[in-house]
Amino acid sequence: MSTDAEVAGGRPEVAGDAGGSSLTVRDAFPPGFFVGAATAGHQIEGGNVASDSWALEHVPDTVFRHRSGDAVDFYNRWPEDVAMAAGLGLQALRFSVEWSRVEPVPGEFSRAQLDHYRRLAAACRDAGLRTVVTFNHWTTPLWFAAEGGWTNPHAVERFQRYVNVAAAHLAGEIDWAITLNEPNVATVAAVGGGGVGGSAVGDLGRALEHASRRHPAATGSFKPMMLWEGDQLGRYAEAHRRAVEAIKSHVDAPVGWSLACVDYQAVPGFEDRAAAVRDQAVTAWLEVSRDDDFVGVQNYTRRLVGADGVERPAPGAPVDDLGWELYPQSLANAARYAASVSRRPVVITEHGVCTFDDSLRLQHTGRALEHLAAAVAEGLDVRGYLHWTLLDEFEWFSGYDVTFGLVEVDRHTFERKPRPSAAWLGGVAVGRTRP
Ligand code: BGC
Repeated sequence: MSTDAEVAGGRPEVAGDAGGSSLTVRDAFPPGFFVGAATAGHQIEGGNVASDSWALEHVPDTVFRHRSGDAVDFYNRWPEDVAMAAGLGLQALRFSVEWSRVEPVPGEFSRAQLDHYRRLAAACRDAGLRTVVTFNHWTTPLWFAAEGGWTNPHAVERFQRYVNVAAAHLAGEIDWAITLNEPNVATVAAVGGGGVGGSAVGDLGRALEHASRRHPAATGSFKPMMLWEGDQLGRYAEAHRRAVEAIKSHVDAPVGWSLACVDYQAVPGFEDRAAAVRDQAVTAWLEVSRDDDFVGVQNYTRRLVGADGVERPAPGAPVDDLGWELYPQSLANAARYAASVSRRPVVITEHGVCTFDDSLRLQHTGRALEHLAAAVAEGLDVRGYLHWTLLDEFEWFSGYDVTFGLVEVDRHTFERKPRPSAAWLGGVAVGRTRP
């Protein structure tokens, strides 16, 4: 166990259980490897009123435990947060541009909102943080959802139009670009095994359907984020390709998408079944990354696949507050698998622990990083690690009752207090310089 993964004499160590070795993170990862934190607009900004999620949070009988409301006011407090992240020693910040702010009405773009995100990106870079910019982290404008969301035949061109405008505006301030966050999340939920993507609700689709039917704008065509029918992979792959094109026409930076990469493992005797689950939920999506500069890997857990398909964690297995098994090897396993299918360099774009017990966060992350370092030592090409997430956040259906945050935020005063894990992660990054 790597409970002693603290910064020792300025030298961050991630000691752990992999072969009894004691690795120094600084030495274990290649030059240029970055350590940072990931965030998403809707979960921290607050007041994202023109989005589909906001609408679903406000329907009568909503499936969301809370409304996002002011979230943690990152929309106004980002200067403080950027300074804090850099002050902790982090080297990168992942944030998303909220499409519904930038294009609140179809075809009408807000210069002021685009400037907002440009200022945020520029401030990160001035503070020495690489920017990892997500163009869509699930939420879409309400008008887009009302027109059928991703199922609308014009969805791809609408997304491309927005990405093109946003990329042109942020050009020069982007170090890494992510087109879509976890487009495979509904598929991961569909193959089973319980809550995914922050959902404490087992059946994601049914829950969203329920919420959608209650919105005043609900017609047969209302399809908010994550609610799907039809060929998801085909549609998202096309949206991704067109977004890559748009970004690359303005930005000279690596572009990819980030995928939910659950580490599916077969119960002995059920290898074929596990392969089928893996193919549907992960492999087919990773194949799309073959034409990209990198693949974003997001891993939180493993899932065993047995006679009844995807299983819940065994009784007594260590789990986090969302009931996800804490299995430190899952990150390295997922990264290895993603690299083997996509044949592209990997960036860990999310990994974290849902808990208020910060020593658990620190301990589990330390062990996971040690396994990742061992995989890198064996030749796996990983370019960076972004911990989910910087601040206490709106955890989708579970609202504010749970957290993945490195930094505690008082929801009434918005006061930020870094938890020990934040200083520890900053320590992991210490000593690295921008290549
Ligand atoms: C999502 C985040 C979410 C996290 C934890 C990821 O799938 O990208 O938005 O908060 O999982 O549930």
